[in-house]
Amino acid sequence: MKMRRHRVFLLCTVGLCVISFLHYYKALHYVSLLRELSAPYPNIKSFIMVSGFFWRWPTSLILFCQKQSDNSHVEPNLQKLREQLGKEKLPDPIKSMGDLHTRSYQLQDDKTSYFVRTSRGAYCFRQGTEIKESSRKPLGLQQQPGKTKGKGQPLGSGKQLVKCVCRPGWHGPYCGVPTMVYHSNLPTKERLTPRKTPRRVINAININHEFDLLHTRFHELSQAVDLFLVCESNFTAYGEKRPLSFLRLLLNGTYDYVRHKILYVFLDHFPDGGRQDGWIADDYLRTFLTRNGLSRVKGARSDDVFVINDADEIPAQEGLLFLKLFDGWTEPFAIHMRKSLYGFFWKQFGTLEVVSGCTLRMLRDVYDGDGIKLRRREYYTMPGFRKYENDTGHILVQWSVGSPFHFAGWHCSWCFTPEGIYFKLVSAQNGDFPRWGDYEDKRDLNYIRELIRTGGWFDGSVQEYPPADPKEHMFAPKYIMENHKRYHYLLENPYKNKVQNE
Ligand SMILES: *[C@@H]1O[C@H](CO)[C@@H](O)[C@H](O)[C@H]1NC(C)=O
Ligand SMILES: *[C@@H]1O[C@H](CO)[C@@H](O)[C@H](O)[C@H]1NC(C)=O
Ligand SMILES: *[C@@H]1O[C@H](CO)[C@@H](O)[C@H](O)[C@H]1NC(C)=O
Repeated sequence: MKMRRHRVFLLCTVGLCVISFLHYYKALHYVSLLRELSAPYPNIKSFIMVSGFFWRWPTSLILFCQKQSDNSHVEPNLQKLREQLGKEKLPDPIKSMGDLHTRSYQLQDDKTSYFVRTSRGAYCFRQGTEIKESSRKPLGLQQQPGKTKGKGQPLGSGKQLVKCVCRPGWHGPYCGVPTMVYHSNLPTKERLTPRKTPRRVINAININHEFDLLHTRFHELSQAVDLFLVCESNFTAYGEKRPLSFLRLLLNGTYDYVRHKILYVFLDHFPDGGRQDGWIADDYLRTFLTRNGLSRVKGARSDDVFVINDADEIPAQEGLLFLKLFDGWTEPFAIHMRKSLYGFFWKQFGTLEVVSGCTLRMLRDVYDGDGIKLRRREYYTMPGFRKYENDTGHILVQWSVGSPFHFAGWHCSWCFTPEGIYFKLVSAQNGDFPRWGDYEDKRDLNYIRELIRTGGWFDGSVQEYPPADPKEHMFAPKYIMENHKRYHYLLENPYKNKVQNE
């Protein structure tokens, strides 16, 4: 490799000498060409031939040398991504930010009619109910309480005499309880009732460059979530300058389909000590996101729901919709997420179960309005917890949406193109040791491609993966599945069966 580079360098140097000479020669020749052109009958043919030769040859040599030197430093794709991320060419969007990072957001009540009254008088969750069938068929047997089996089973509330006929995946007398809640450890399944007014759901995340997963989140959740708090910093978690790539996309219209639900949170400083202990920076991002974000939300109620995620954790729509529309669940709640690495194709065993949400009241009274405290599991030792329990009159037990067998979301770890993984490596915080971004060989794109191909990790280990089938339930979020072409690299191993060159 080194020898080759030397040879290329030598070749380029010689080439440049030749070019200089040719240019000198051409300049001389050009004078005579001009004379020729100004003559009454210029010899066009000789002009084209001469200039063609002089131009084409050195240009291709320059191009060749450029390509060689580009390859030895930064791969062309990486270069493209850098430009796209706006490090070099585009003006800093900070100047176009205006009051985007200080303006407030007025929460509205969601007037969507999530429930319908069927012709027989049952009150049913629209999305979970076979509406046409129940109005057409004589459903005498199914309408009587206690006669249904399996998914139509009543979940308490004996008031409703005529029943809803549930679609597959929906349960309870209103067909509003999704499988991921029905098969969860929720101890109050018998006491779930639809709310008159839906709660508002606020989903908070920090963003770096997880832009494909961000589209996925917005598409998956825009129906269930009323407001996305999206926090971006002009510092990496490592404390270096980073471009405001999300802001740029927000300003250029990329998220116009959900823009009315986005509140932009801008973290413009790096916490003290964050450079030495990266976890300080990591925690601080969540603290700032929650405090700054929520302080700008107007009209929030204490029973509205707050959900905080990492950008690579995407809750399923059905679970959050349930929280929005029903009373009777307990808090805080965790989410069981399907785990995978580099894409949805390297499925991992088990689930990632992260405490991710609670009501705004609990966030304020127990967690001190700090989202990072919610994500730690120690709520019952928090000073405000017993008082909060007493004040609400409920015994609070931790509950997780989903189960190890019924996923309630996706955690897609390191789900980027190789270039994206490179950027994650170099911007990782100082504390996630070993910090792989510090090793040149770990940043090599061919090395990263090989990791994706084999499902290996930076420490040289390869874990065992259970088989994953794109046809399985909850393989990947709907938006990804529906845009197979665009997100192909997340659905199928792009390097499988490919021999790496070099
Ligand atoms: C981030 O933005 C703030 C406010 O504009 C500025 O003071 C700070 O220097 C910026 N940080 C970096 C690393 O550019
Ligand atoms: C916004 O900018 C990105 C990256 O610069 C580009 O890929 C995208 O097409 C732009 N979107 C619109 C709507 O202009
Ligand atoms: C518990 O709640 C009751 C009212 O519901 C209140 O009178 C009492 O002071 C509370 N106790 C504690 C320890 O907060």
